[in-house]
Amino acid sequence: MRVGAVLVSILKAPLWVAAVPTGAKSFVGNPVIGSARLNRWGLHVSRIRVAAVLAGWRRRWLGRHVPADQQAAFARDGFVVLPDFLPAADFARLRAETLDTPWDAHEMRQGSTVTRRILLDSGPLRRDKPVLAGLLRSRKVLSLLRYIASRGGEPAFSIQCIIANAHGSADDPQCVVHADTFHSTAKAWFFLHDVGPEEGPFLYVPGSHALTPQRLAWEREQSLSARTHPSRDHAEGSFRISAEDRQRLGLPAPKSIAVRANTLIVADTFGFHGRTPSPTPTRRIEIYGSLRRNPFAPWTGLDPLSLPGIKSRLGSALVVLDKLGIARMPWRSVGRIRLDAPPQI
Ligand SMILES: [Fe+2]
Repeated sequence: MRVGAVLVSILKAPLWVAAVPTGAKSFVGNPVIGSARLNRWGLHVSRIRVAAVLAGWRRRWLGRHVPADQQAAFARDGFVVLPDFLPAADFARLRAETLDTPWDAHEMRQGSTVTRRILLDSGPLRRDKPVLAGLLRSRKVLSLLRYIASRGGEPAFSIQCIIANAHGSADDPQCVVHADTFHSTAKAWFFLHDVGPEEGPFLYVPGSHALTPQRLAWEREQSLSARTHPSRDHAEGSFRISAEDRQRLGLPAPKSIAVRANTLIVADTFGFHGRTPSPTPTRRIEIYGSLRRNPFAPWTGLDPLSLPGIKSRLGSALVVLDKLGIARMPWRSVGRIRLDAPPQI
């Protein structure tokens, strides 16, 4: 190693170590997290174990706002599906508020699939889109997201439009069954129209959110070589799992979750999930929410993103952080367009 590289390593080492008790997950970006020697000694599996124990404690407290049947569905499957979520009249108004207007949009291309995203701020929406704003502030939605993420705090919401070409899913990383990270984190999708079995529905391996001895052994195995894995996403800590490995872990086949319009799905993306490859060109529009925080915090609150003045403007805050180069977004701004416009990138 050259002297310069050694010096940089010495200077950065404290930062790499400081990232261990956080949600940092990249095996390539952090040589401490990615160290095969440390992971042989148990670093990666210890992070998973401690995060899971703390998640269990926090979830017991957060469960007081979540109905028992939803808690039971989550414990069994790792996800909760709530059909007919809004009253029919509210759902019709929400569709009109969302679909009949142009939005400031961002787009990202993954293979031949384009994801269009509209970052939502519930604060400014309250004036002219009251039903959409109400959904983002709904106690039912927030409580379930927080319970599954096992953290308090303010989820980030957006409108998401996925435009996929027929058979284009082979090069779409979202179509490969994977876990997002090494700890519980929640994602939610509220569907504005039906998503049939042929239209690339969400898929999830039921029960794969549970931390079993087999999953821990598999995670340990992956952690020894993840740093040099050919898949960039895998090397960055979103482990991909093959059908053979899934069977070795005693897990069932992924379940494709086709839904009717007006259905809410909330899932723990520590469990294995993805998007079903679609045999036909598809376009689907959904309200999307995600909540991911430091899994090592013993508390559920004290979230700086939930401070008054910030929590209702999370979307704008992300755009500002991106412009300042502090938190780079993978999406590019494509101006003001309607959700049914063709892809701009
Ligand atoms: Fe994912």
